[in-house]
Amino acid sequence: MAALLLGKTHRNLLKSVPEGAPGLLVSLALFTCLLRCAECVKPSNMILIVTDDLDVELGGMYTATPLCCPSRSSILSGKYPHNHMVHNNSLSGNCSSKAWQTGPEMQAFPVYLSKMYYQTFYGGKYLNQYGINETGGVKHVPPGWDQWHVLVGNSQYYNYTLSVNGKAEVHKDNYEKDYLTDLILNRSLNFLDSQSPQHPFFIMLCPPAPHSPWTAAPAYQNNFTDVKAPRDGSFDKPGKDKHWLLRQPVNPMTNSSIDYLDNAFRKRWQTLLSVDDMVEKLVKKLEVMKELDNTFIFFTSDNGYHTGQFSLPIDKRQLYEFDIRLPLLVRGPGIKPNQTLQDPVVNIDLPVTILDIAGVNISTLDMDGQSFLPQLVPSFRNSTSRPDFLVEYTGEGHFTKDPDCPKLGPGVSQCFPDCVCEDAFNNTYACVRTFKDSNFQYCEFADDEAFVEVYNLTADPHQLENIVKKVDPALLEAMNQRLIKLQSCKGESCRQV
Ligand SMILES: *[C@@H]1O[C@H](CO)[C@@H](O)[C@H](O)[C@H]1NC(C)=O
Ligand SMILES: *[C@@H]1O[C@H](CO)[C@@H](O)[C@H](O)[C@H]1NC(C)=O
Ligand SMILES: *[C@@H]1O[C@H](CO)[C@@H](O)[C@H](O)[C@H]1NC(C)=O
Ligand SMILES: *[C@@H]1O[C@H](CO)[C@@H](O)[C@H](O)[C@H]1NC(C)=O
Ligand SMILES: *[C@@H]1O[C@H](CO)[C@@H](O)[C@H](O)[C@H]1NC(C)=O
Ligand SMILES: *[C@@H]1O[C@H](CO)[C@@H](O)[C@H](O)[C@H]1NC(C)=O
Ligand SMILES: *[C@@H]1O[C@H](CO)[C@@H](O)[C@H](O)[C@H]1NC(C)=O
Ligand SMILES: *[C@@H]1O[C@H](CO)[C@@H](O)[C@H](O)[C@H]1NC(C)=O
Ligand SMILES: *[C@@H]1O[C@H](CO)[C@@H](O)[C@H](O)[C@H]1NC(C)=O
Ligand SMILES: *[C@@H]1O[C@H](CO)[C@@H](O)[C@H](O)[C@H]1NC(C)=O
Ligand SMILES: *[C@@H]1O[C@H](CO)[C@@H](O)[C@H](O)[C@H]1NC(C)=O
Ligand SMILES: *[C@@H]1O[C@H](CO)[C@@H](O)[C@H](O)[C@H]1NC(C)=O
Repeated sequence: MAALLLGKTHRNLLKSVPEGAPGLLVSLALFTCLLRCAECVKPSNMILIVTDDLDVELGGMYTATPLCCPSRSSILSGKYPHNHMVHNNSLSGNCSSKAWQTGPEMQAFPVYLSKMYYQTFYGGKYLNQYGINETGGVKHVPPGWDQWHVLVGNSQYYNYTLSVNGKAEVHKDNYEKDYLTDLILNRSLNFLDSQSPQHPFFIMLCPPAPHSPWTAAPAYQNNFTDVKAPRDGSFDKPGKDKHWLLRQPVNPMTNSSIDYLDNAFRKRWQTLLSVDDMVEKLVKKLEVMKELDNTFIFFTSDNGYHTGQFSLPIDKRQLYEFDIRLPLLVRGPGIKPNQTLQDPVVNIDLPVTILDIAGVNISTLDMDGQSFLPQLVPSFRNSTSRPDFLVEYTGEGHFTKDPDCPKLGPGVSQCFPDCVCEDAFNNTYACVRTFKDSNFQYCEFADDEAFVEVYNLTADPHQLENIVKKVDPALLEAMNQRLIKLQSCKGESCRQV
């Protein structure tokens, strides 16, 4: 787990509320907007920045699934994976598939924003399989987006194709013309210049950073040369009481694995410096436009990341906090500066919150998440903190042997460096993460051992000890029942205890 970097991002998002706009007044104004009163001139603008693979150590948000395509599908649809049916990063796992396009994508949050007269812009990575020819290629522009500058396929910094409002635009590797993080920022600034002032806007920016191949901008390629991944928490601790995949890694790790992950860690930070610039330039632009006081900015990620935890070199896809816990920074009208919300928030809550801000009647939505606007902005609506949430993950495995790792059998994947595998088809699990009476995580695997892991996060924040054999059987039974209920929940039933 890496500490969140992003100096400028912190400064720009956590700084003071806008001058002349004290919290209470703005929150009253916002409330008035929600009631759509005559004096409400225009609902708030919104910007949502979703980084790729950014972990967090501080408080933050959770993901209902620690992998790009399923998580991004949850952010768009407000649904748990068992309801949007996107289970992995492949087309066959429904990533940007026809089933997605004709189902959840038709009811994703931009569709409702557009009905509320928002002018919408999307820039950067969408879903890992977006733009392939089987599903309509670059011509497919999902409903609700007015401006669409979206990457074909998975995160790249150079040498990629964009769908620009349905037309292919091929990019090479000239920094000034092609660096994707900068390019989507520039396009969003152009979009802001073209705004008609009567309508609110919504911008979603999904930079490739800090995903591999970790290509930093030229100006940042020599930063952080002395930085190493932190050696704290579960770094290089054995995972001997955990599910079978965690019992495989060499412990302690080989020097080559450590060198590899330190290098990845440094390069991840280098790529984030361009994201820092993105946030700063957007905030400055909003200031010049005099829209900063009326704009919510959300900053988050699709999944977490690990560098050496339990001797796993680098990846995500695990049930532990380092992979499911994400950064979430929000600034906007009525939000007090520099406060930390204690209530848990999940990625499926983002679209509901966004639509709540836009003035949509959220109780009409077919979404599993809940709005955290009442927690962000003290309003007349009572807030209800979620008692728990569900994590669902379907493991990915290749059924041909990995030629680079002849000793490994089939069924595993992500076996680099040093043939340590980070995923397998039977790394398929579901967990309930509870907050109300206990700070617990309870997970069941669909593998040959029907393996169970249980953690008391209060006593053991780094999940070093699986207490399944020690914990009161009545508590295990209760968590098993809750898990079963959540795994088939839909809409309202996902929000009820
Ligand atoms: C893909 O989505 C469709 C429609 O929801 C569903 O019937 C199918 O089972 C899904 N496929 C997978 C692999 O989940
Ligand atoms: C889609 O088809 C076009 C035209 O045949 C081809 O140039 C392009 O490479 C294909 N794209 C993908 C992602 O396969
Ligand atoms: C981009 O593609 C060109 C041509 O294949 C290649 O020479 C170059 O190294 C690539 N650049 C990057 C940054 O990968
Ligand atoms: C973005 O805009 C800046 C400022 O105009 C320019 O220097 C830079 O080359 C642009 N980058 C891309 C990738 O468009
Ligand atoms: C990155 O490196 C440049 C050049 O050495 C330096 O000016 C800048 O302050 C560094 N930025 C950070 C955030 O360390
Ligand atoms: C691994 O690195 C440690 C610390 O730098 C060093 O003491 C040790 O000799 C190295 N081991 C090998 C096999 O190179
Ligand atoms: C935010 O709060 C922390 C801890 O309460 C404090 O150390 C820090 O100085 C504050 N930052 C700002 C910008 O007010
Ligand atoms: C929101 O929708 C619900 C369910 O359709 C309805 O009962 C309620 O009256 C609506 N609220 C408002 C403020 O329109
Ligand atoms: C908020 O909750 C309190 C206590 O449950 C209740 O008395 C009050 O009516 C609620 N207010 C609103 C606006 O729902
Ligand atoms: C993704 O899910 C589909 C459907 O279950 C499966 O056929 C495919 O092998 C999975 N992809 C990987 C890489 O595991
Ligand atoms: C999981 O699958 C791998 C690869 O087929 C196999 O070696 C392992 O024994 C399985 N483990 C369990 C617990 O099912
Ligand atoms: C979890 O750990 C805390 C701190 O050690 C302890 O007070 C609490 O009783 C534990 N909870 C359970 C249910 O064992």
